[in-house]
Amino acid sequence: MAHITWKMEDGCEISADVKNGLNLMEGATANNVPHVEGECGGCLSCATCHVFVDSSWFEKSGEIDDIEDTMLEMTDVEREENSRLSCQIIASEELDGLILHVPEPE
Ligand code: FES
Repeated sequence: MAHITWKMEDGCEISADVKNGLNLMEGATANNVPHVEGECGGCLSCATCHVFVDSSWFEKSGEIDDIEDTMLEMTDVEREENSRLSCQIIASEELDGLILHVPEPE
């Protein structure tokens, strides 16, 4: 189980426990986090699950593979150095306390 916090641009936060093995797009949609759509269901073809990983957690969020790297160029809100597609981050004890910042498309 990992306790995850999603922070919105307006200062609102949603926190929830996500079961190990679930991805954090699934965790977001199950907890009605706005602006994390997950349209493709996690198969890396939509980029609607874009988040910014809090800088203190970025290293622990895992490796970005080539497909995610390509899809990160297609996000609504421009990619930053701490961008990830949250369907590619898998909940684990290591990520307990993780903070994600949710970009809001204009
Ligand atoms: S849910 Fe589509 S790329 Fe993550």
